[in-house]
Amino acid sequence: MVRCAADELIKVDFTVNGRPATVHVAPRVTLADALRDHLGLTGTHLGCEHGVCGLCTVLVDGDAARACLLLACQVDGSEVVTVEGMGTPSDLHPLQQSFGSHHALQCGFCTPGQIMSAYDLLTAEEQPAEEDLPEQLSGVLCRCTGYRNIVDAVADVARAYPGGVPGPRNCGQPEPTLPRATLGGAGEQVDLERVDTGGPAEIAVPSGEPTAVITVDTVADEPINRIWAVIEDTPALTACLPGAEIVSDFGDDQYKGRMRVSLGPVRLAFLGDVRIVERDEQTHRVKVIGQAADASSGAVAAVVDLVAEPQAEGRTALRAVAELHMVGRIAQFGRGLVNDVSRDMFGQFAGNVEASARGEAPTEAAPASACAMAMTLIRSRVKALGRLLTGRK
Ligand code: FES
Ligand code: FES
Repeated sequence: MVRCAADELIKVDFTVNGRPATVHVAPRVTLADALRDHLGLTGTHLGCEHGVCGLCTVLVDGDAARACLLLACQVDGSEVVTVEGMGTPSDLHPLQQSFGSHHALQCGFCTPGQIMSAYDLLTAEEQPAEEDLPEQLSGVLCRCTGYRNIVDAVADVARAYPGGVPGPRNCGQPEPTLPRATLGGAGEQVDLERVDTGGPAEIAVPSGEPTAVITVDTVADEPINRIWAVIEDTPALTACLPGAEIVSDFGDDQYKGRMRVSLGPVRLAFLGDVRIVERDEQTHRVKVIGQAADASSGAVAAVVDLVAEPQAEGRTALRAVAELHMVGRIAQFGRGLVNDVSRDMFGQFAGNVEASARGEAPTEAAPASACAMAMTLIRSRVKALGRLLTGRK
């Protein structure tokens, strides 16, 4: 039995379509999501995601299984075959050929599940009775075809191969079938698994338009030299960022770090690489680039520019500008939510820098929370509405 915290990553080594594969996933990630989101094998479709429709059917150690009902960590050491392993466009498996020639698909959404389920049936029972086929194939739901042609396609293959259906035709080929998730355009890839390989990784920040740009301005009551002493000290600076921690210090201003963020009940743990690319004592400026991935929600690359400026009466203005490029589910959370959570996080960060400059420990770095942000957002919108109604600035 494997025990780990809900937001920790588990390394899963298994075989997919005859090739060794490794994913680093949170314990809640299903086999279907690991195949689709981490290995790019999107032929495994998801319909109901709770074991009813059969669209996600794959083979695990030779038996059909619902990939939406298995956790990825449960298949450690197993052999998994997906529809991509059955054949290639130029070398289709007989079942794939038969589905085509019998017009056994319309939209095709159920077809991967039908093929894998039919293969499982014909390997378990070489010559099933044709009258039993409708019931034997009923574990995968099709909303288009009326099933007649699906049954005909499978019956045809059973007749053509009385000694047993041939095995998968695309297992054990050396090259992967699909690219992994990318940030930005061509050549700007973020490998969702590279972040956990142990050593420093090259950081590639996309050049396109960021998903969000956050600017936070504050004025601290501490003098510039004290604020700068915090900003130039990377461990002290990291301690000021809510939910952030340094995991490894590789030297030469390169780090591996972890960042925890709460979005309602969902806790995300981003693990990735950070590099200080500029530290200028004259202009009191620090520039940081980083990239990190959460096992279930996607990846983010960031450029953070931090500038401190002396003000009158021994005070210091602090400006943080963060450009965030996101990919995966996190990019779908909505710019408003991402902006608000990030703004809250950088707001806490600025307060912690000031506290550290005073010689106090940063406030306990609570992970940024969407619930807290929702309240802040509601308060700010109510205030704005009040100003609008009363004509006050
Ligand atoms: S998606 Fe797995 S059974 Fe429906
Ligand atoms: S072909 Fe469309 S759901 Fe089966």
